[in-house]
Amino acid sequence: MSLLPISIYPDPVLRQKAARIESIDASIERLIDDMIETMYEAPGIGLAANQVGRPVRLVVLDVERGEESSGLIVLINPEIVSATGKTKSEEGCLSIPGYFAGVTRCQEVVVQGLDRRGNPIEIAADGLLAIALQHEIDHLEGKLFIDRISAISRDIFKRRWKKKREERTESELCLD
Ligand code: NI
Repeated sequence: MSLLPISIYPDPVLRQKAARIESIDASIERLIDDMIETMYEAPGIGLAANQVGRPVRLVVLDVERGEESSGLIVLINPEIVSATGKTKSEEGCLSIPGYFAGVTRCQEVVVQGLDRRGNPIEIAADGLLAIALQHEIDHLEGKLFIDRISAISRDIFKRRWKKKREERTESELCLD
């Protein structure tokens, strides 16, 4: 297993619609293991394949944060088959480090997909897991949580992000 570099906004891979996985071959097996390791190391509660530069329909999640691997979920070709209720909570994203904002999502979802062995699975979730599933499945559509915040918040985000990038570039220039 190895750690993968996480694609940072505005990397165009984050805007790509991820392709369906037709067969779980050795390269997908490897990608799953590497994404699990990368998620725990970050640390994050979820990671979509787009975020490591591979736009295929694969997400890993673990919202339990307690003992490692206790709540690990690997989902291939996930689809939301039912979504009900409404909830608003503060979200962040490993691809947009340091920025958090309130996002409104469905309270409960039912998601179907395949596990890493290719067996069909169905997950009925609420609370943090429901939010994380919606956030990760959005990634597979090229969608980010900043697309779901108000226009005013998004403007503030873009200005702040631009400033942060300029500061980063300046400090890199100072190194030589
Ligand atoms: Ni994210």
